[in-house]
Amino acid sequence: MWQLAAKWTQKLPAEMAHDTAVFALSHGFAPIADQILLPVQAAGLAFDNPLGLAAGFDKNAVASQGAIRLGFGFTEVGTITPLPQAGNPKPRLFRLPEDGAVINRYGFNSKGMRVARNNLRKIEHRRGIIGVNIGANKEAKDRVADYYKAAHYLSAEADYLTVNISSPNTPGLRDLQHEAHIKAVLEAAIKGRDEAIAHADARPAVFVKLAPDMETDDLFAAMDASAQAGVAGFILTNTTITRPDSLNSIYRDEAGGLSGQPLARRALEVLSDAAGHLKRSGAPDLVLIGAGGISTAEHAYARILAGADLLQLYTALALNGPYVVAEILRQLKALVIADGASAVSEIKGVFASPEKALLHAAHIARIAAKKSGNN
Ligand SMILES: Cc1cc2nc3c(=O)[nH]c(=O)nc-3n(C[C@H](O)[C@H](O)[C@H](O)COP(=O)(O)O)c2cc1C
Repeated sequence: MWQLAAKWTQKLPAEMAHDTAVFALSHGFAPIADQILLPVQAAGLAFDNPLGLAAGFDKNAVASQGAIRLGFGFTEVGTITPLPQAGNPKPRLFRLPEDGAVINRYGFNSKGMRVARNNLRKIEHRRGIIGVNIGANKEAKDRVADYYKAAHYLSAEADYLTVNISSPNTPGLRDLQHEAHIKAVLEAAIKGRDEAIAHADARPAVFVKLAPDMETDDLFAAMDASAQAGVAGFILTNTTITRPDSLNSIYRDEAGGLSGQPLARRALEVLSDAAGHLKRSGAPDLVLIGAGGISTAEHAYARILAGADLLQLYTALALNGPYVVAEILRQLKALVIADGASAVSEIKGVFASPEKALLHAAHIARIAAKKSGNN
C-alpha cells in the first residue's frame, strides 16, 4: 500500500510530492519498519544502525519521528536558517528518474530557527538520533554570525549539529569552505553551542558538510582547518554542480545541485580521499558520514569499506519510496555477516582505494545473494 502511495505521489509535481511525503511522515502516515539492529558508536552517540536520512527532506523539523519509523538510525533536519526565508522561485526541484537523480535549487527555504526549535520541543517520546543542520540566511550581512546564532539557539535540541557551508543554492556560501574562512565559521558555531550548553558532556558534536566539487588539496586544507576548530567529523558530500555527460533527462541543464546515482562515484572518491587524509594526519577518530547516491546495500557497503562510520541518503528515498530504507539495512546486515564480520566498525576503512572497496562490496554481495538463494 505504501509503495502504491509513493508511486502515486511520483505523478505529482516534484515539490508537491516532497511536501506530501513530509506531511505523511509528520502525521504518522508511513510504514513502520522492523527495526534492524546494526549498532554504531560515533561522536559519543549510540546509533541503532548506520543509515540516516540526509538533510533537506525535513527542513522545518516536523518529520523526524516518521523518518525513524521507516528504519533510519538517525535523521538530520534542516537546513535551518536563523530567520525565515522563502528560498528560490518555483519550480526549483526536478526529478531525473531515468538517471536515478534529482536536481534542486531550493535555496534554503526555511521557516527559521524559532519554528524549528518549537517543532523539536513538541516531540513527545523522542526516538532515534536527531541531527540539526544549520545555514546562513541569504541576505545576512554577517554569515559567520548566523552560524553562531543558529548553533546557540538549536544546540539544546540537537544530538549533533551540522554546519552546512556546501549548498550550491545560496550564492557565495561555498566560499566559506575555503581554508581562509572555514575555521572562523566553525569556531562561531562551536562557540554558539558552548555558550548555550554549560556541561561539556551534554554538548552536541559538530560536523561540517562539504561539497563534492572541491579540489583534493582544498578538501584537505578545509579538513585540517575544521579539525583545528574542533569539529567531530565530516559529512561527505552535499550535491554537485557538475553535470556528468551520462545524464539523459531533459532537466539535466537546470541550475542547482545534482544528487543521486550520478554523484555516487565522486562522493565515494571524496570519502576515500578524506579517510586516507585522516589516517595520515593522525586523526582517525574524526567521524566520516558518507552521502551521495547511496541507493543499494552494495553502495552502502562500499562506502563503509572506504572509511565511512555512518551513511546518509535522500534521493533514493525520493525516487524509490519508503521501503528502500529497510531493504538496504536488511541487505547491509547480510553483507556484514557474509564478510565474516559482526559489526560495521570491523569493516570500516579496510580498503584505501575506491576501486577495491567497490570490487569487494560486489564480491560480498554475490556471496550473500548465493547464501540467501540456498536458504
Ligand atoms: C531536494 C534536496 C534538498 C536538499 N537540501 C539540503 C539542505 O537543505 N541542506 C543540506 O545540507 N543538504 C541538502 N541536500 C543534500 C542532501 O542532504 C545530500 O547531501 C545529497 O542529496 C546527496 O545524497 P543523495 O544522493 O542520497 O540525495 C538536499 C538534497 C536534495 C535532493
